[in-house]
Amino acid sequence: MSQQLLNIFYQSHIGSWAILVLLFLVSYFLLKGGINKGAKIVHMILRLFYVIQIVSGIGLLIGYGFPAVYIIKGILAIVLIYAMEMLLVRTQKGTIGSKAPMYWGIFVVTLVLVVLMGFGVLSF
Ligand code: HEM
Repeated sequence: MSQQLLNIFYQSHIGSWAILVLLFLVSYFLLKGGINKGAKIVHMILRLFYVIQIVSGIGLLIGYGFPAVYIIKGILAIVLIYAMEMLLVRTQKGTIGSKAPMYWGIFVVTLVLVVLMGFGVLSF
């Protein structure tokens, strides 16, 4: 892979992850505040950021030659996206019930692991 393409993936990845997390929180609290239309729009933008993050992440994975720590980071990131989707969709439908703490738990744990692995604090 060319250095230029790798750089595009890298810059997209590191420039988008914090926005992604922020968009999730904004969408969730709009939903909680009863501003459903706003929440829906922010949720749609959030989904676009999932795509940017996954595509650039896979690009980096290919560029680096599939190191184990980043393969696991990628899988955890998918679990993180799953937790965010469940929190938003089920809260909106009113079907989250007693599962809310479980999904928040998955969200916090996977977010911490993904960020620590991304920054190389957690490596093996
Ligand atoms: C919600 C999804 C994701 C979040 C929040 C996230 C977060 C991060 C963060 C914070 C970094 C460190 C950035 C920096 O050095 O400033 C990083 C790096 C990285 N991520 Fe992700 N990521 C996500 C999804 C993915 C996916 C799906 C993959 C792979 C399939 C992936 C692969 C990588 C790789 C290979 C790096 C290393 C970049 C480097 O330091 O050279 N990420 N990620």
